Amino acid sequence: MIEGYEQAAARAEERLAAAADLGAVSGIERELLGRRSLFADAKRRLGDLDPGDRAEAGRRLNGARARVEAAAAAARERLAAADRDDRHAAERLDLTERLPQTVPLRRGRLHPVTQARDRLEDVFVGMGYTVAEGPEVESAWYNFEALNIPDWHPARSSFDTIFVDLGEPEEVMLRAHTSPVQIRVMEGRKPPVYIVAPGRTFRSDTADATHLPAFNQIEGLAVDRNITMGDLAGTIDEFVRAFFGREVKSRLRPSYFPFTEPSAEFDISRPDGSWLELGGCGMVHPNVLRNCGIDPEQWQGFAFGFGIDRLAVMRHEIDDIREFVNNDTRFLSQF
Ligand code: DAH
Repeated sequence: MIEGYEQAAARAEERLAAAADLGAVSGIERELLGRRSLFADAKRRLGDLDPGDRAEAGRRLNGARARVEAAAAAARERLAAADRDDRHAAERLDLTERLPQTVPLRRGRLHPVTQARDRLEDVFVGMGYTVAEGPEVESAWYNFEALNIPDWHPARSSFDTIFVDLGEPEEVMLRAHTSPVQIRVMEGRKPPVYIVAPGRTFRSDTADATHLPAFNQIEGLAVDRNITMGDLAGTIDEFVRAFFGREVKSRLRPSYFPFTEPSAEFDISRPDGSWLELGGCGMVHPNVLRNCGIDPEQWQGFAFGFGIDRLAVMRHEIDDIREFVNNDTRFLSQF
């Protein structure tokens, strides 16, 4: 009887080692170890043996059972591992696939204006500024009023604004400059503030060699204690040298903007000794600070703004700014 069980157990170990699925493992266990199994039957019949033989027979029976149990556990482990491997193989992504070498690879590149914008951001971030953004569709409050340009102000007409007809009550427009971002930033946080805001701006200009109706500006704003015109001049100088090269100089010329007082235009030097106008700047007008809930007795600021497309035109000596929007890849792929 014991031998019969040992033989069945040895066969079961082999069958378990070869079992192809978990169902087969459970079947073999039931047959060898379960309540109606060969093992249960043999155990019941131990009682028929001579008491002297019983202990030895019981030990052999338990040994055989333990071997079957261990073989079943090993089979389960083996099947689970194989199952994992199958799943991994099925879910595997081949990221090494290459296009056949016969297909010429054409790499994209950034638009020259985007490249100029990225470099400008890098230069100012290097000076401790962060980058801010505002919406391209603005209300008259942000585009004009908060910037100290009330609706009777003659400066309004100089912006050639493109209005958006949404009806009453608000006057809505495509922003004519990036200066509204100054207001949004100062409304949203307490000084000190050091930001630049690059973005698209719009005016009802007819496109020609030096104008686009949709163009890009970058705005700068610094608000802190004891800020002076000297800080503005130094910042512009530092930026110009970092962007164009150490040999390029900058200068400020008195000018007028409603949102700064005093105001200036800034120029950069050209190799032939002439000066080229780049943008406007000045000390933030006290009314503008007050419009944003900032006390002009405690805080001062400077601001500046200029065209990014113009800058790219100058840098690459392009003679028609419209090339930037013609989407001719023969032109664009040169940069
Ligand atoms: N927003 C002005 C424009 O588009 C440019 C400008 C001038 C921005 C002076 C400034 C500034 O921040 O201080 O014509």
